[in-house]
Amino acid sequence: MEGMEGRKPRLIVKAGRPLCGFLQIEAAKNAILPLMAAALLADGKLKLRRVPPLQDVLTMGRVLTSLGAGFGLTDQAAELEAGNLMGEEPPYELVRAMRASFLVMAPLVTRLGRAVLALPGGCAIGNRPVALHLKGMEALGAKVTWGNGKVSVEASKLMGNRIYLDYPSVGATETLLLAACTARGETWLDNAAEEPEVVDLANCLNLMGAHIQGAGTKMIRIEGVRWLQGTTHTPIPDRIEAGTYLIAACLTGGEVTLENVIPEHLHALSAKLQQAGAQVESSEGRIRVRASRPLNGLEVVTMPYPGFPTDLQAPLFALLALARGTSVVSETVFENRYLHVGELRRMGAQIRVEGRAATICGVESLSGAPVRAPDLRAAAALVLAGLRAEGETEVTGLEHLERGYYRLEEKLVRLGADIRREE
Ligand code: UD1
Repeated sequence: MEGMEGRKPRLIVKAGRPLCGFLQIEAAKNAILPLMAAALLADGKLKLRRVPPLQDVLTMGRVLTSLGAGFGLTDQAAELEAGNLMGEEPPYELVRAMRASFLVMAPLVTRLGRAVLALPGGCAIGNRPVALHLKGMEALGAKVTWGNGKVSVEASKLMGNRIYLDYPSVGATETLLLAACTARGETWLDNAAEEPEVVDLANCLNLMGAHIQGAGTKMIRIEGVRWLQGTTHTPIPDRIEAGTYLIAACLTGGEVTLENVIPEHLHALSAKLQQAGAQVESSEGRIRVRASRPLNGLEVVTMPYPGFPTDLQAPLFALLALARGTSVVSETVFENRYLHVGELRRMGAQIRVEGRAATICGVESLSGAPVRAPDLRAAAALVLAGLRAEGETEVTGLEHLERGYYRLEEKLVRLGADIRREE
């Protein structure tokens, strides 16, 4: 379909002034998606404030309505209710489109006694098995069977247990929180993920009537309750969206203040930006970054929270490609998350990848080229690289960008970037 490429929506990015100004950060996509799954457990309406109409949010909405739940998104608030839950098998094409759709599994088992799911999809960033989700469900008493590329999980009543996660998977921790909060008795999740989005899910579930303690630490204790009610909750701000704009500000040598952020959630990135030579100041709900000189190269290792987030690894490459000296990045969370490297090289970046480590030799400037985004965060990385590339950078593959960034180009233009969209 090469010939069709000319008609795909694209962003035309040109290098321009340093980015300057203020931006409001949206609610976190990765918090919203599990919260939407949690709505399936509630007896009553779950209202989530300030939800942006991201593609992934709309896909999750379709997953829920395909199961008989109600989903409405008005004025940036999502309303969900699951009184008439009927289906136990979300459609294959939706599950394939987005890995987070697997999060409906535990609530379906709780509500209907059974869930059937195709193997989940999502960004093509390596092998993302769901073994930990399923092992945990078995520990809670569910029966797991495979066949025809689908997995079926059944339990008439889940029973609390002590579960050790071999790896602090975010998705598995969320699945097991959703499963355990109405299981009979007590569940201990050991080596749980500590990500802020896990804490946000636990906070909302507690508002709904669950008894969860220790979210945000490696050991979470859940005391099963009989039922959960609806509530109103505001999801946490998107630390990955915020981080993307902080990196954009730095690589253009600008000064940007972000509002509606939790600076503590951005600490790993702020520390690295400071190490590179930028100034970062934070106060309640705000973070400001200023970078007035070429930044220094860095050594960065991605890790589970509070380590450096894998989701900011690709955007950071745009900065390191232009930094002074050599940088080394090790990706330890996903085994194949360097899909942006080939495209950045086409723009003149000097990057060598060996296994999970990438060495980046900073260059003075990049050169514009037609590039195609291979996944969500890589899409942001390519737009950012375009902000410092001579000539025009034409970014296609915008369907990836729109999964997780709300109006990225408009927000960058508001800060002074030269970007235009062509449909
Ligand atoms: C979530 C985020 C994603 C982020 C990732 C890591 C959402 C919707 N997505 O994805 O943006 O990049 O956390 O911060 O919140 N693994 C297993 N077995 C399992 C589950 C995971 O081996 O059963 C492995 C994965 O292959 C991967 C690693 O664990 O290598 C991390 O995955 P996980 O933490 O589960 O990420 P997600 O929840 O999919």
